[in-house]
Amino acid sequence: MDDLNEPMKLNCGQILMNKIGLAPLTNKQSNEDGTLNDRELEWLKLRGGHYGLISTCATYVSKDGKAWEGQLGLSEDRHIKNLERLTDEIKMSGSKIITQLHHGGDKAVFSNDKISCYDDTHIKVRNASKEELQEIINNYVLAAKRAEKAGFNGIEIHGANGYLFTQFLSHITNKRNDEYGGDIEGRSRLLLETVEAVRRNVSKNFMVNVRISPVNTYSLKGIDIEETILVAKWLDELNIDILSLSLREYNMETIFEDQNYPVIQLIRDETNNNLKIATAGNIWSRADAVNAREIGADMILLGRAGIVHPDWPTVSSKKNFKPYYPKWDPAIFQKVGVSNVFHNYLMKFPGLVMGGAEKR
Ligand SMILES: Cc1cc2nc3c(=O)[nH]c(=O)nc-3n(C[C@H](O)[C@H](O)[C@H](O)COP(=O)(O)O)c2cc1C
Repeated sequence: MDDLNEPMKLNCGQILMNKIGLAPLTNKQSNEDGTLNDRELEWLKLRGGHYGLISTCATYVSKDGKAWEGQLGLSEDRHIKNLERLTDEIKMSGSKIITQLHHGGDKAVFSNDKISCYDDTHIKVRNASKEELQEIINNYVLAAKRAEKAGFNGIEIHGANGYLFTQFLSHITNKRNDEYGGDIEGRSRLLLETVEAVRRNVSKNFMVNVRISPVNTYSLKGIDIEETILVAKWLDELNIDILSLSLREYNMETIFEDQNYPVIQLIRDETNNNLKIATAGNIWSRADAVNAREIGADMILLGRAGIVHPDWPTVSSKKNFKPYYPKWDPAIFQKVGVSNVFHNYLMKFPGLVMGGAEKR
């Protein structure tokens, strides 16, 4: 059954107008100082009124966690003003909007003193002190409060794709021998303490979501499905709204108790139904999306299809809809709100960005 365009209620009481979200997509369009600029506003505005949930790109919570040029910031109060324009526009369209809060850890390339959960003098990374971990948690809290002030409907804590929290979650990168390392309880402590502190410091009806990369996916090596399920359960106990799975293929399978199952199904079966599970991962057609729902996703997120189809939720159920895989033509991209800056960034990964679609 296709109920993707039906509303969905979250733990915090907010209702999404449909079960289709725009995945967080880094577009490198922010101003040098991390403030939002008009190109970024236009890119998201064009998707307002179509997607039930719209996310900004990964947004740094502190300057020492910034990971690339043109990254959006929420590390200071002066970032709030431009974001208010964005949240006003999107909320007026009927969509909800969140921002994805991020710290690069060992990928914070602008810092000469990068902190993570191991020491490596060659790449100038060192194990963070406990005081620094408390500071990171505090920076997430402050950024979440700024997000609320800027009018966002919620935040997502970026625990996926190889950044700070992923580094802590993985037994390969996490070399700590204190309570923030060791078994999965220790390795997930920083993420869980951050989620708990954020939840406690924002309003009850503010959405708090978490994104993780489950089970040895391309950007996370060093956590198995049993550990992923435990982390999902603990996040559920902290009363988060959406657990977002960063998968390359939404129907990726893994072995659990000697049998193959889709990762989504395992996490759905092991968590409370009030926790909503979202997934991205090579979803282009309506049939892909319905299939993702059938194997356990409560909602789907579009990355690349969301780039080329600003109105996917509205048009994808029409009979003649064909997911459209554009050639590398800037004129086409301009029509869908992708500026030259964003287009140039996408051009760096032609295989990644359009490769999956071309294989179909
Ligand atoms: C250009 C680009 C930028 C991305 N930026 C982010 C990001 O800022 N945060 C994040 O969690 N994932 C990011 N991702 C991953 C997407 O959110 C999504 O999970 C991934 O593209 C798989 O979905 P898809 O097959 O629908 O594209 C990015 C992906 C692409 C292609």
